[in-house]
Amino acid sequence: MKLLVIHGPNLNRLGEREVDIYGTLSLDDINAKITDYAGQKGITTHFFQSNHEGEIVDKIHEAPKDGTTGIILNGAAYSHTSVAIRDALASVELPKIEVHLSNIHAREEFRNHSYSAAVCKGIISGFGPNSYLLAVDAFALES
Ligand code: DQA
Repeated sequence: MKLLVIHGPNLNRLGEREVDIYGTLSLDDINAKITDYAGQKGITTHFFQSNHEGEIVDKIHEAPKDGTTGIILNGAAYSHTSVAIRDALASVELPKIEVHLSNIHAREEFRNHSYSAAVCKGIISGFGPNSYLLAVDAFALES
């Protein structure tokens, strides 16, 4: 199994950005945790972060061509705004799981809705960096 983990806008600022909400780990720290955890289950991971909507759309389109078997996506703010990312996800046949570090349902109303959630197999939200690890578990259990 080869999972593509996509991180959306401002997640490159993890560890410095709103640490009371998102914690003190950097994106590199979180990616290392995911690599380690998935590796123990024999799952390969690769990572992409972008602050640009179109780049995320392109990356999703490319995923089926590079041997990716599933996508874990934290679309960050684009989850709440982007029909383009939702449509890109719907356009590829791979299974997808949406994750969020924070519980988007316990925050401001504008974060309560995700355009991408409905085209994913499920959503894991509110467990900090463990949200990503739980998504890895979900893929492992489904395989
Ligand atoms: C987030 C939640 C989003 O509402 C926010 O815009 C983010 C991060 C999360 O992981 O909790 O940037 O996706």
